[in-house]
Amino acid sequence: MYFIANWKMFGSLNSLNSLNKVIKFFKIFKKNKFLKIVYCPPTTLLGPMAEIFKKTKIDIGAQNCHEQDSYGAFTGSVNSKMLKNIGAKYVIIGHSENRQRGENDKLINQKIKSASRSGLKVIFCIGETLNEKRKKITKKVLNRQLRLGLSKIKSKNKIIIAYEPVWSIGTGLIPNASDLYETINFIKKKIRKIKVLYGGSVNPKNIDYLKTINNLDGYLIGSASQNSKKFIDIIKKRYS
Ligand code: PGA
Repeated sequence: MYFIANWKMFGSLNSLNSLNKVIKFFKIFKKNKFLKIVYCPPTTLLGPMAEIFKKTKIDIGAQNCHEQDSYGAFTGSVNSKMLKNIGAKYVIIGHSENRQRGENDKLINQKIKSASRSGLKVIFCIGETLNEKRKKITKKVLNRQLRLGLSKIKSKNKIIIAYEPVWSIGTGLIPNASDLYETINFIKKKIRKIKVLYGGSVNPKNIDYLKTINNLDGYLIGSASQNSKKFIDIIKKRYS
């Protein structure tokens, strides 16, 4: 079961102090064999975080990468090879906040290929907007995102899907259990043996509800993951 922390554009060197709590918790947590914690901080904190987690089983990941894995004149960009070099094992690709800023399925596909070539595991985000949900075209949208995003990618064993309905990100809203179960099933039927996570407003309060959806392989957690206590609470409650 994955618990992936997405810090987005938050966090300073000071924010790293509270990670000791998470390290301690993970060491003594009896069910730690069954869980994988991955922190995806902003790029500026990848190096310092790699140092902090060096002797632990907690992994780090980036929140995006350039579509080209060789070096080049791309001011402001970071490629998958550079991320791997600094100690990242994962990268989030296709997050709706980046899709909304213009990343399309084709670019996302190039990024996934580039990350895979560099040996990173990809957390590939898909999800429908509120408008698409209202129009009842969720499956059609997910189908397109999966088909184009994973086009010409034969080996999918380093890819994890994060289903994040756009309307649930940062809103406090979550899908109802039967809809979510059905959507996760739909994704798993499309892509055999793939791990599927849920993301969108996961917090210590709604995890009791979310854990009843038993086809999920974990969670991608945004705002609640910036608070170590809340993040730990989510994990504890998931296993209680
Ligand atoms: P949230 O973000 O938990 O703050 O809703 C989740 C995400 O965007 O990955």
